[in-house]
Amino acid sequence: MSVTILGIESSCDDTSAAIIRDCVLLSNVIASQKVHESYGGVVPELASRAHQQNIVPVVSEAIKQAGLTRDDIDAIAFTRGPGLPGSLHVGTSFAKGLSLALNVPLVDVNHLHGHVLAHFIKETPETIIPEFPYLCLLISGGNSQIIKVNAPNDMEILGQTIDDAAGEAFDKCAKVMGLPYPGGPIIDQLAAVGNADAFKFAKPRLQGYDYSFSGLKTSFLYTLRDELKVNPNFIEENKADLAASLQKTIIDILMTKFTKAIKDTGIKTIAIGGGVSANSGVRAAVEEYARRHKLTAFIPKRTFTTDNAAMIAVAGHYRYLDKQFCDITAPPFARVVI
Ligand code: KG4
Repeated sequence: MSVTILGIESSCDDTSAAIIRDCVLLSNVIASQKVHESYGGVVPELASRAHQQNIVPVVSEAIKQAGLTRDDIDAIAFTRGPGLPGSLHVGTSFAKGLSLALNVPLVDVNHLHGHVLAHFIKETPETIIPEFPYLCLLISGGNSQIIKVNAPNDMEILGQTIDDAAGEAFDKCAKVMGLPYPGGPIIDQLAAVGNADAFKFAKPRLQGYDYSFSGLKTSFLYTLRDELKVNPNFIEENKADLAASLQKTIIDILMTKFTKAIKDTGIKTIAIGGGVSANSGVRAAVEEYARRHKLTAFIPKRTFTTDNAAMIAVAGHYRYLDKQFCDITAPPFARVVI
């Protein structure tokens, strides 16, 4: 018997709803919030209000685009955390209300599990999905983790950042260059025409699989500060080289620990996920490593790297199969995750 899941994502500044049937994607609607652009970052209160305005039309559109009616939905999966509390409350409350109205189970999803399981979104029934176990490099705005995925509902974190995430390193360094938020995609574009060996920035010397990006951030800031004293146009004149050198350093840091984990575990299937997995340099580095070492690499389509409800629906599908339902009184979690 087939299973149809409605997924709802509202953890940050994108309101999204998706419908999947046995993990085959029927619709994935995303309303991005433009209201934050002039503030240089996401404003939580404005995000919650925009979610409230968007959620009903976005869910209705997802059901319509899937060619279904509300009665075809078997369960509702929603992002319970981590994320912005107000934003999570909108999605959580809506999911609870709809589950009561339709009398279908409610499934809570950890947003990060969604990124890790994004490779199970099938655009057609024939889409190839990873075999277990696989190693996933989860790189988003708030997290950098190396995860051993034993099964959809069995994940082990082998390493994680002890300070900033890779996305924060991109965004904060871009900010000191005077670039708008989020800086990651702009650094990616500039890096394409820059010299990646023009500047050297600090890399951490941590044992094990943990990451640290705060030293890099400080060394980037000090380079700019020192060079600007000599040449006030330094950033403008070296934009592309700075971006390329920064991107190369972030990729080196990410790949050093990821490849160490791959070698130590002997796992042959690898994957990346999260917003930073949209980065051209990261994608190329992972593909190249997999090719050289005869590994199978899963690189998500760019639409599935940023926040989307399709990945929440897929993670919800597997929790539904394992009967991991959520109580109607369950609150969202800003930080602690399920
Ligand atoms: O996964 P995501 O939406 O955030 C969380 O759920 O935490 O990822 C957002 C992050 C931002 O830091 C953004 O700058 C970064 O992903 N990002 C990129 C690129 N596209 C998005 N970073 C580098 N290169 C990109 N192409």
